[in-house]
Amino acid sequence: MPKVVVTRRVPEEAIQRLQESCDLQYWDSEDAIPRQTLLEWVKGCDGIYLLLTEKVNDELLNAAGPQLKVVSTMSVGYDHIDVAACVRRNIAVGHTPDVLTKTTAELTVALLLATARRLSEGIDAVRNGEWSTWQPMWLTGQDLHESTVGIMGLGRIGAAVARMLSGFDCKLIYFDPYPNPKLAESLGVEYVSWEDLLSRSDFITTHTPLTNETRHLFNADAFRRMKKTAIFINTSRGGIVDQDALYNALVNGEILAAGLDVTTPEPLPADNPLVSLKNCVILPHIASASVATRRKMAVLAAENVLAGLAGAPLPSAVKL
Ligand code: DGY
Repeated sequence: MPKVVVTRRVPEEAIQRLQESCDLQYWDSEDAIPRQTLLEWVKGCDGIYLLLTEKVNDELLNAAGPQLKVVSTMSVGYDHIDVAACVRRNIAVGHTPDVLTKTTAELTVALLLATARRLSEGIDAVRNGEWSTWQPMWLTGQDLHESTVGIMGLGRIGAAVARMLSGFDCKLIYFDPYPNPKLAESLGVEYVSWEDLLSRSDFITTHTPLTNETRHLFNADAFRRMKKTAIFINTSRGGIVDQDALYNALVNGEILAAGLDVTTPEPLPADNPLVSLKNCVILPHIASASVATRRKMAVLAAENVLAGLAGAPLPSAVKL
């Protein structure tokens, strides 16, 4: 049987699927596998089933050896994988798009509303006994209705967010380096330039993969161009934000608030300056974290492994 390394405890359905035809070396733990252990385990393996916490680079691929056929990540994002290095070695790369789109979009809308309406401040106030009486302007936030929401990236998740927001009576605009006029028209989303996205939006939500082009896309210059009342939401990857610039923008009133599901690094240390800010709502990278979706992601990642081992097209292949 082909040897497959699984780098973390994942839903049982996925393990059962793999066990039917593979010899598994299973890191059955909630904690990340130590790098050194991973480098030893992958020696001679045919497939690797991993998470976004494991970097796939020449070091790992060389440690695995020439028989490695497939690398499958239980995530849609694959910025942790050197895809070109895999392609050079004829290794198929799988990921898990589509199955998490709506769940991620829902969390984006939840985070947007939580940030706009200051939910975590309200919850803290109740817990800490700071709720004295009803006050006309206490914990007042921003309306989503009648606002302009700017979407950076109208891919699968950006489009799902647009679809969900269509019920909120707001104006939707987007910027994408690869505009999709047909899709935008069907969603009622107006295409604008990057500069207009920054200057016109009351909310900016970003749905772009992390690449060399998008790293620190949201930097000091971008925050300076936004409205002082703007709210910035990020559920894609922490690396697209210059966090020092974000901190300064939040502290100096260049923007009103931020909601982040992703940060650099992850986990974000509790003493990171952003954590201390009331106008910054931070979640621990849970956008796709519903029971059903995580199960689907796990099974799809297993199916990618099995197809790769069989030399068949992957159900969800990453293409270079
Ligand atoms: C992904 O899949 O890339 C998310 O960040 C985790 O679901």
